[in-house]
Amino acid sequence: ALISLRQLLDHAAEHGYGVPAFNVNNLEQTRAIMEAADETGSPVIMQASAGARKYAGAPFLRALMEAAMREFPHIPVVVHQDHGVSPAVCQRSIQLGFSSVMMDGSLGDDGKTPMDYDYNVRVTRTAVEMAHACGVSVEGELGCLGSLESGQAGEEDGIGASGTLTHDQMLTDPEEAAAFVKATGVDALAIACGTSHGAYKFTRPPTGDILAMDRIREIHARIPDTHLVMHGSSSVPQEWLEIINEFGGDIPETYGVPVEQIQEGIRHGVRKINVDTDLRLASTGAVRRFLAQNPSEFDPRKWLAESTRAMKAICVARYEAFGSAGNA
Ligand code: G3H
Ligand code: 13P
Ligand code: NA
Ligand code: ZN
Repeated sequence: ALISLRQLLDHAAEHGYGVPAFNVNNLEQTRAIMEAADETGSPVIMQASAGARKYAGAPFLRALMEAAMREFPHIPVVVHQDHGVSPAVCQRSIQLGFSSVMMDGSLGDDGKTPMDYDYNVRVTRTAVEMAHACGVSVEGELGCLGSLESGQAGEEDGIGASGTLTHDQMLTDPEEAAAFVKATGVDALAIACGTSHGAYKFTRPPTGDILAMDRIREIHARIPDTHLVMHGSSSVPQEWLEIINEFGGDIPETYGVPVEQIQEGIRHGVRKINVDTDLRLASTGAVRRFLAQNPSEFDPRKWLAESTRAMKAICVARYEAFGSAGNA
């Protein structure tokens, strides 16, 4: 059944768990997310980016999400728009029946230019007024996602600040966060705490705190009733990188966010954790391996089933690690 992000995250806060938000673009991702949720008894956040709408087409994407709820009516599902770059994009998603939208006013409507606080408040406030009138939740973002190691936003093809970011830009300020939530009325707030989008987050194996954990604690202490969101939270599984490279791929050494650090974030108010890259890596590795090992196979259902299986295993692991398993 369709529920709003607010409903789900209020429950998550009350019971101290986090919910992975997986990006969907196609049937295989949708099935992986739902079958994993069904097996673990987890509620679901499936999110679609503007890129997903372009890839699948809005009506197909919407139909996939509706089909998910029809096949698994007992699972609570939030249908969320990821990284809306303007109130107009949010409005379109509300019309399509999404129960939650992200208004990312940290960047301009090109999805690249870092914008100032007043612009962010203005567009986010507009999106909140529109969405709340329709019973739809809103996620805002304050601060710019970027790797503290490199100062780079890190995303090649999607949303991400251009140029090198300053240390301050990459860490959300707790006082500003409090003022932002008050001025906009957002239901959840994406914070910048040292993560970045995509596979290339860190060049060395993460040891100790690679996230600004103190900053997460300070923000949560200042706005304890606001649900925090972590973007760029893929863990970049080394075993999938090895499989990709063993079967013809070429991905350089790279590391993501360890699950244990996300769990520490969940202990300090993080409720929604965005994961896209990990499913992309698992899907690609599984398909490369299958086709290399079965060179005469040409039924796409065979290799697409491998993709679904691999993505589903990641979903199961995240539902369990973040504690949403058993809360459907
Ligand atoms: O925020 C970025 C997400 O990973 C979505 O990526 O815009 O390529 O669909 P995308
Ligand atoms: P990853 O690239 O780390 O999976 O992050 C996805 C994300 O934040 C989508 O909004
Ligand atoms: Na989002
Ligand atoms: Zn994101």
